[in-house]
Amino acid sequence: MIGLMPANDLAVLILAAGKGTRLKSSLAKVLHRAGGRSLVEHVLAACAPLKPRKTVVVVGHQAEQVSALVEPLEAETVLQQPQRGTGHAMQVARRALGAAKLALVLPGDAPLIRTETLRAMVAAHRAAKSAATILSAVVSDPSGYGRILRKSATTVQAIAEESQLTDEQRELNEINSSIYCFTLEKLWPALAQVKPNNKHRELYLTDAVAVLAAKNETVLAHLAPDPREALGCNTRTDLAEVDRIFRERKRAELMNEGVSIQLPETVLIDPAVTAGEDTVLEPGVQLLGKTKIGERCTIRTGSVLSDAILGDEVVVESHSLITQSRLDDNVTVGPFARLRTGTHLKSGSRVGNFVETKKVTVGEGAKVPHLTYLGDANVGSKTNIGAGTITCNYDGFQKHPTTIGKGVFIGSDSTLVAPVRIGDGAYVAAGSTITENVPPDGLGIARGRQINKPRWASRKRREVASAKRPNKKARPRRKSKARPRKSRRR
Ligand code: UD1
Ligand code: CA
Repeated sequence: MIGLMPANDLAVLILAAGKGTRLKSSLAKVLHRAGGRSLVEHVLAACAPLKPRKTVVVVGHQAEQVSALVEPLEAETVLQQPQRGTGHAMQVARRALGAAKLALVLPGDAPLIRTETLRAMVAAHRAAKSAATILSAVVSDPSGYGRILRKSATTVQAIAEESQLTDEQRELNEINSSIYCFTLEKLWPALAQVKPNNKHRELYLTDAVAVLAAKNETVLAHLAPDPREALGCNTRTDLAEVDRIFRERKRAELMNEGVSIQLPETVLIDPAVTAGEDTVLEPGVQLLGKTKIGERCTIRTGSVLSDAILGDEVVVESHSLITQSRLDDNVTVGPFARLRTGTHLKSGSRVGNFVETKKVTVGEGAKVPHLTYLGDANVGSKTNIGAGTITCNYDGFQKHPTTIGKGVFIGSDSTLVAPVRIGDGAYVAAGSTITENVPPDGLGIARGRQINKPRWASRKRREVASAKRPNKKARPRRKSKARPRKSRRR
């Protein structure tokens, strides 16, 4: 039971007030997205399973937007204005941390951190009764990071920031991830001794580490099992790299669950997406938002599904866009279909190429095979919608519904002017503009009646030919030796 109890002495503190100058963006750094979520959401998601007594986020740049994002995720925010460095951010959060004994401190821009690593780090901190534990990582390119200066095999003397490094220290490749566990009653007095002795005139949290070590407090370095967990997103290149890693993790997760992914590096899948066994994703597919896919489905190349719910054995042909829609078992869609919000295709139905739908239910086994717009419509089971059918759902002021019954046949190129009802089993003649309800089993025909004019075309051709001749009386039977004709139209 003990293992299931929340760690009541532990609070989480996320430092997210910085601007992220190096991203060259009007958007605060932690709001940038990678792997389908904002950076700060990833950090919160990694901490949540630790069940901290509270989670505090220090906000500054775009404080309102960052607060609006994190507060619904059960985090409390503290404003740091102006931002005087990571040590200052820590001080600003002091009151909010309340009675917590331990603080797990994380930057908002290191989204690859995993729960298991945090758990192990906190456990090591507790076991050693440490004052501070630093998550470190050994990396091939340490530039831009603070370096760990070791005291012993397990303990730390100080963290040297990039700008303060000696040539010798520059070679060190163990870096500070900026993820720490602090025993707060030890941290506060140490932090009070830190001075803004750097070119930015900032209070560095890293400097508190040297103060603690100098007081002979235990300062541990806990090495991250995967150095990528320490990757901070300072530049657009970092963001792209982090995104790539998240996407790779997610694809690996789905492949482990029995999903086939062709040319996996071209397939983009958001974190909340699920897919069933034997589903196949072709190259260039994107599965976004809360998309859920059943078993034995095929999603062909270039299709983008966003918040789409698919049953089993659904086929999405190439280059289809599906947003906030539900497709039941055995549905086939596309190629080049666009299913917009509120589309529900019932089992066995088919929506073909160049069809757009919005707020539409298509009944079981019904077919909308080509070149159609259906909006605010209900289509009954086994109904066939001919090519080029349009529901005129908008009169310039309001939207109106179209109800098409079961087993209906709508001829090609029909326009159905809503509100209108087509009864069960009815027919609509091709090319009709339907403005009135069609009764069940009836035929609606609404188009100009055809008139055939026999020999009209041959007569017309003769007329045109004679109009071009210089002398209207010179009929073609007599071969003229006259000089080549000139068109009058010149
Ligand atoms: C920091 C560390 C460095 C470490 C690196 C890891 C310091 C001085 N340096 O450097 O040792 O290797 O992270 O990525 O801590 N923030 C605030 N308020 C502030 C300043 C920063 O909330 O006044 C937040 C930022 O939003 C960011 C985090 O703290 O999320 C880290 O700040 P950042 O400027 O990215 O520090 P680095 O230069 O990367
Ligand atoms: Ca950083």
